[in-house]
Amino acid sequence: MIDRFEQAVAERVGARHVVAVSSGTAGLHLCVRLAGLGPGGEAITSPFSFVASANCILYQGATPIFADIDPQTLNLDPAAVEAAITPRTRAIVAVDIFGYPCELEPLRELAARHGLALIEDACEALGAEYRGRLLGSFDHPAVFAFYPNKQVTTGEGGAIAVASEEEWRLLKSLSNQGRADSGGWLEHARLGYNYRLDDLSAAVGVAQLEKLDLLLSLRSQVAARYAELLAAIDGAETPLADDADHRRSWFVYPVRLAPEIDRERVIARLAERGVATSRYLPSIHLQPYMRERFGYGEGMLPVSEEASRRMLALPFFPELSAEDQEYVVEELRAAVR
Ligand SMILES: Cc1ncc(COP(=O)(O)O)c(C=O)c1O
Repeated sequence: MIDRFEQAVAERVGARHVVAVSSGTAGLHLCVRLAGLGPGGEAITSPFSFVASANCILYQGATPIFADIDPQTLNLDPAAVEAAITPRTRAIVAVDIFGYPCELEPLRELAARHGLALIEDACEALGAEYRGRLLGSFDHPAVFAFYPNKQVTTGEGGAIAVASEEEWRLLKSLSNQGRADSGGWLEHARLGYNYRLDDLSAAVGVAQLEKLDLLLSLRSQVAARYAELLAAIDGAETPLADDADHRRSWFVYPVRLAPEIDRERVIARLAERGVATSRYLPSIHLQPYMRERFGYGEGMLPVSEEASRRMLALPFFPELSAEDQEYVVEELRAAVR
């Protein structure tokens, strides 16, 4: 089932090779390891992400350097990335946050010019496209994740899309305790990990991928309905629309509240009315363990911090009914007044 799952993911993301792994986090860690990051090295990444995109750098004993994001796309601002490059920089870990493709072309150009590895955290972006090409089909590694909140799930699970058979072989070995194709079960060519996806999860993944088109289209419909309903509400800005370069794969539905709105009050009011929301996402550099270790504080990355203060994720899943969405938006209207 692993072979079938890897093949199915490869077809769906237009990748030449895919390695199934036990989680998106495991996939990111292997890519950082593949890029040769280690103690003394730095990788530039986004502060506006789930912690795994920075943790994978720490796992290798390297230092995550956060560059600020673009206020519209909420993805890494290439100019900020360039400004953060030092002689110790080895890689860029770019995130497609909320399923919206990051600025791949300028980032690829930057990486090439400075001799850096580019790793794409596409964990939230299965099925998204940049300049008409599926994420996962470029020549840098891209990582997808299949936790139950993702577009498709394997329970826990992830996949790495790579362009060369050599990378595929090495990643397969690293995910499988460092075993090599040529050796036996108890022969280990290198230090590896148990980051394998299991057969049962792969079987679920194969069945889930058969429904990918349906799931993505249901998610788009739910998002379009929210956009229509929210158009009439002041103070809750809807997510950035697609354009010629970016085609989003809908993952969550975060609105941006106007600065004068008290988000905590809105969350509490909605909770009273049975509407669950989430402060999505906190900036990684302000997480307690990051502050402690690196001395980071407020004011360092103003665009990310502002987004962290104002974004609010609304209930979002493929079967969300129009009636429930109307209820959510009516309650939001009352809460932001
Ligand atoms: C942006 C991002 N990166 C990495 C991950 C890690 O994936 P996983 O939970 O499968 O380890 C996630 C999902 O949780 C994510 O949203």
